[in-house]
Amino acid sequence: MNKHISRSGSRLHRRDFLRSTAALAAAAFGAPYIMPSSVFGKNSPSNRITLAIIGCGNQSTVDIPEWLKNDDCQIVTCCDVNRGSRGYRDDKQFLGREPQRNFVNKAYAKKTGNDSYKGCDACIDFRDVLARKDVDAVAIITPDHWHAVQTIMAAEAGKDIYCQKPLSLTVRDGQEMIKAVRKHNRILQCGSQWRSKAHIRQACELVLNGKLGKLQRVESYVAENNFKGPGPGWKAEPVPEGFDYNFWLGPAPQAPYHNLRCFYKFRFILDYSGGQTTNFGHHSNGVVRWGVCDDLFPTEFEDAGSEWPEKGDLFTTPTKVSFRAKFPNGVELFCHTNKPGFGVRFEGSEGSLEIGSSKFECKPASLKDAVLGGNDKRFAISENHYRNFLDAVKARKDGVEPAEVAHRTSMLCHLGNIAMLLKRKFKFDPQTEQIVGDDEANKMLSRPLRAPWHY
Ligand SMILES: NC(=O)c1ccc[n+]([C@@H]2O[C@H](COP(=O)([O-])OP(=O)(O)OC[C@H]3O[C@@H](n4cnc5c(N)ncnc54)[C@H](O)[C@@H]3O)[C@@H](O)[C@H]2O)c1
Repeated sequence: MNKHISRSGSRLHRRDFLRSTAALAAAAFGAPYIMPSSVFGKNSPSNRITLAIIGCGNQSTVDIPEWLKNDDCQIVTCCDVNRGSRGYRDDKQFLGREPQRNFVNKAYAKKTGNDSYKGCDACIDFRDVLARKDVDAVAIITPDHWHAVQTIMAAEAGKDIYCQKPLSLTVRDGQEMIKAVRKHNRILQCGSQWRSKAHIRQACELVLNGKLGKLQRVESYVAENNFKGPGPGWKAEPVPEGFDYNFWLGPAPQAPYHNLRCFYKFRFILDYSGGQTTNFGHHSNGVVRWGVCDDLFPTEFEDAGSEWPEKGDLFTTPTKVSFRAKFPNGVELFCHTNKPGFGVRFEGSEGSLEIGSSKFECKPASLKDAVLGGNDKRFAISENHYRNFLDAVKARKDGVEPAEVAHRTSMLCHLGNIAMLLKRKFKFDPQTEQIVGDDEANKMLSRPLRAPWHY
């Protein structure tokens, strides 16, 4: 794929790891930064997963502390095309590769009792991360337009991958990601943490096993946009110092810089994301699919009154999400901008169930106490999405949100966006992953990647 990484990149041998890390650390800092086993209890280097963070923005402030809780995981590098700046989701955030590297080193300094600990470094180019033998796995926390290229290259380099949701920017992205992950026998967990929440697992098991009677309708809520575009007539701005804007754009089309284009706000521009349809939608529609049945996929999609920004605005994703889809078993999905945050409501012939971020409620309330029998389907148990990934890496077995599951959830969201953009109904064939008899719609399942980036 590129000249820095061999396609046959092999997995790390522990002795190489010890040699290369010790050499690097000694050369750079004159002191060894391999964590002593005593710091990690039973987690000696041979039992520890070395992790690179790729993308040190808003969500890295959630993900990094979660990785740090695991003694059998060591963050060794923070990669970002931004050195460090403000301009993220809120004014207080100062983020980028250097602030996040410093954060990690401070945490390990506290853990090891070594105040001068500097075992985590920072870099600009993720290809340098992939070329490192002392990196076992990568956490991809970049904007959605980077997920496919970075995942595929990571798989080729022999790394396991925790890729943030939504898995993909397009349906084709997801297909290529699955191919690469399976070809290179990698573990991929997509970062939609709702699949690791006990109350959601319990609720979806009730729905899947018919405790609401015959399932009829599902509503999936996605939050409203929390930023407004600059409107038509917006002007290009100078690129801030310390930010490699061209690298940020990567496979996306060339475009003039504006501060509302990049950090955090990229999610409101179709070149980089699918808006709240894929942002919150990957969470809520992933739960819909869990309850309805992961093996079923909607075969009809239609717009239900979506609204879009003014022509000429920088922001191009829906200002109001509203689409319907129909599963082959007749269940109707209505996905819309309704409530803040996350939520899903299932309606069956004998009652309903509504899931929120920390609990679920049933009508009648007694449904909540329905007991699952020996023949009922049960989901794999995961209480923590990050832990589940680390365990999957060690066991060489998929975790709770592997590439195929995440691809189909992202695909559902992408098809919703296509229906809302076209403002017309279409049928979808889940076997071929093609829209039936609609060339214009099918073209929207993929997008060209800007050279030199390719699948
Ligand atoms: N699981 C969740 O609940 C959750 C919540 C928020 C965001 N996310 C996901 O996390 C991802 C990032 O979102 P965010 O809000 O943190 O965005 P962000 O803009 O705040 O951070 C992304 C960072 O990636 C960096 N980046 C861009 N291109 C890069 C490249 N080629 N190499 C290295 N770094 C690069 C940017 O400079 C930026 O610092 C998105 O896919 C988003 O959907 C998930």
